[in-house]
Amino acid sequence: MPVHKDMTEQALKEARKYEEEKDREISAEERPLFHLSSRCGWMNDPNGFSLYEGMYHLFYQYYPYAPEWGPMHWGHAVSHDLVTWQYLPAALAPDTPADSGGCFSGSAAVMDDGRHMLMYTGVAEDPEEPGTSVQTQCLAFGDGLDYEKFSGNPVLTSDNLPEGLSRHDFRDPKVNRENDDTYSCVVGGCTEEMDGRILYFRSEDGLDWHFVSVLAANNQRFGTMWECPDVFMLDGKAVLLCSPVDMRRTEKYSGGHGTLCLIGDFQDSRLVHEQDQPVDYGTDFYATQTLLHPDGRRIMTAWMQNWDTLQNHEGLRWYGQMILPRELSVRNGRLYQQPVRELMQYIKHRTEYRDVSVHGMTELPGIRGRALDLSLTIRPGENDYRRFEIQAAADEEHHTSIVYDRSRQEITVDRSRSGTHTAVEHSRTFRTKEYDGVLKLRLIVDRYSLELFINDGEQTFTMVIDADLSADRIRFLADGDAVMDIEAYTLDLQEQ
Ligand code: FRU
Repeated sequence: MPVHKDMTEQALKEARKYEEEKDREISAEERPLFHLSSRCGWMNDPNGFSLYEGMYHLFYQYYPYAPEWGPMHWGHAVSHDLVTWQYLPAALAPDTPADSGGCFSGSAAVMDDGRHMLMYTGVAEDPEEPGTSVQTQCLAFGDGLDYEKFSGNPVLTSDNLPEGLSRHDFRDPKVNRENDDTYSCVVGGCTEEMDGRILYFRSEDGLDWHFVSVLAANNQRFGTMWECPDVFMLDGKAVLLCSPVDMRRTEKYSGGHGTLCLIGDFQDSRLVHEQDQPVDYGTDFYATQTLLHPDGRRIMTAWMQNWDTLQNHEGLRWYGQMILPRELSVRNGRLYQQPVRELMQYIKHRTEYRDVSVHGMTELPGIRGRALDLSLTIRPGENDYRRFEIQAAADEEHHTSIVYDRSRQEITVDRSRSGTHTAVEHSRTFRTKEYDGVLKLRLIVDRYSLELFINDGEQTFTMVIDADLSADRIRFLADGDAVMDIEAYTLDLQEQ
């Protein structure tokens, strides 16, 4: 079916013109320093996270016209180091028969002829069931700036699905180039009874696709539909990341829209998993996507929001941020995450204290700010402590608190005093561990977010905050004697 080119160009042209105007009205000071935010309007999932012609490309689910979800476009940004981002014009608009209801999430690959290929979910009215929508997988090809939708769209439809799978929930293809230069992809799906499946497809040329296997089946354990899947080998193990909907709340999982990491082995195009864990324990984290760096690093980004905890941000002209990309590894059957090392190029000042005794409340000269990378180790002093707390982004009225309860080996993170106007869940508690009596924390602060890495990235907690930028103090509190070593880096986007 030929693409209706006029229609295509018009919707995209309109979006590009609109975002350029709006972007000019938003000053850099209103945005995070080194987290990608929506150019204007609304952002959700990261899409097409890839390295193309020497630049990192990060597309995103995008509704430019209002700070709320609407017919999905793809926004677009590039970076040379995963830390500083530059906006490019929107890449896709919902304007062809296969995606008239939205260009939903997807991914990118580089083709042999040098073109950048985007694979995304097209949403359109279901002709067999008016009032409902059908989801198919579509392609677009481009040069890193302009993309043209494939005339053969859609390339995967419900005809490619095994019996019993829903054509209404079939989305978020993650495409991959295989070692033999063929293509594979995993797509999220679910049965008509809403039980999540990860579907595995292959293609010789990237255009003509066939079903291979159900790579993983939920069997009612982790929510319903599984969104945004990503599958890869890491440190000798097979890893699946996905975002399940409607998870049951348990001690391990916080419920609702969650993230899931399964670790195991591939056997006959199936993942046999040994371990499961949340990817992140935070209130504002969803929809992960990774790329494989030529230097061997598996780098992950994610939406730094969650459908269940969206807040009203008074007067905000952009809505939605991505996490600072993280380097992944698997150790002892667990997923570990660390901020990308490229962040270290942007250190401005370093402040270090050793053997600081915390008893009651302490603030330390030089340790404050809203663009900071803070590393601490905490151990008991003479009078063992039970409760250790960090209050970040603090002033008289505001703070976001991270509390370690030593006797229960639990961390509670609470952002209810972070300037919010919305009564959603602001606090979460999860079990953690000390190693040889020491708890290690690293906190990345960037204006409107905090990312916490516990014990060298064994666990992470991601959240957005709203407090005015003048709330920049950091307080330490302990109820007995705690002793800490601390290293703080202030960050600035001028490269050193
Ligand atoms: C996940 C998700 C995806 C979908 C997109 C729509 O956050 O629901 O499954 O493709 O958002 O914007």
